[in-house]
Amino acid sequence: MLDFCGIALEHPIINGSGTFDAIAARRAFGDALLESFPFAAFVTKTVTVAPREGNPPPRLWEVAGGLINSIGLPNKGLHGFLAEDLPELAELPVPLIVNVMGFSRDEVAELVDAFTERDEVAALELNVSCPNVETGLVMGADPGEVAALLERVTPLTGKPLIVKLTPNAGDVPAVARAAEAAGASALSLINTLRGMALDPGTGQPWLGATTGGVSGPAVRAIALAQVYAVARAVEIPIVGMGGVQTPTDALNLLRAGADLVAVGTESFRDPAAGRRVAEGLGTIVANRT
Ligand SMILES: Cc1cc2nc3c(=O)[nH]c(=O)nc-3n(C[C@H](O)[C@H](O)[C@H](O)COP(=O)(O)O)c2cc1C
Repeated sequence: MLDFCGIALEHPIINGSGTFDAIAARRAFGDALLESFPFAAFVTKTVTVAPREGNPPPRLWEVAGGLINSIGLPNKGLHGFLAEDLPELAELPVPLIVNVMGFSRDEVAELVDAFTERDEVAALELNVSCPNVETGLVMGADPGEVAALLERVTPLTGKPLIVKLTPNAGDVPAVARAAEAAGASALSLINTLRGMALDPGTGQPWLGATTGGVSGPAVRAIALAQVYAVARAVEIPIVGMGGVQTPTDALNLLRAGADLVAVGTESFRDPAAGRRVAEGLGTIVANRT
């Protein structure tokens, strides 16, 4: 067992938000999913206050070594999630981390407040990759924005708050330091990098939302560099992610300074990737000691 912000975890591999639908997987694989759950904790897809339809299609484009997605965070909204999804996710055999996003500090506060009351929730992950409608600044791209957000929400909860940093920031370690100073319990990185593709026929943007987020092996080297830099800037624990496919990829993020590693895009190719990476990592570590 290892300790992450006071949460006991069986191994250091979790999922990246939005890349593993545990409710659909339970329907597909039945209780076998619970007996051999691929992750040591489960991170939900981003929950927003109001329900969202997501972006217009097409929403995916395959690039060399990864994909661009512009899913646009479709979700049932806070009340739909609490009523329909939380009871099902609470049956998973691992701690639950709820990923939330708000378009203002008040919205994030509402989400943090609501999940603080729920015993089923072990920790919260704040997705700060969206603009604050009040300031126009992307919350996670600016140290001052992140600090102001955390000063608002940390007093509301006793649960660990993991801030999910965006790689689309000028100075990611500066944002990380600001989050730590304002009370973040941990940091996770990287979220997707902005990218786009053109329709080969029309020459127009392929994705319905024009741009999307690049993920998968194509971003692995960037993730490693950002985790390495952030680990040297802060003392709080780090969840590293970006392009992990193999146990060695996970080991490298741990060597760079991560405490946990998340598997994201790879789970679309292999839904058991989390377990494969965790077991392989266990073997590497056992053979070294
Ligand atoms: C299809 C898709 C949906 C995603 N949805 C979310 C999300 O809802 N919230 C979030 O914080 N990150 C989301 N992400 C980002 C991942 O959690 C992760 O940070 C990123 O993909 C990098 O890891 P990877 O290269 O292993 O996929 C999503 C990524 C993908 C590919």
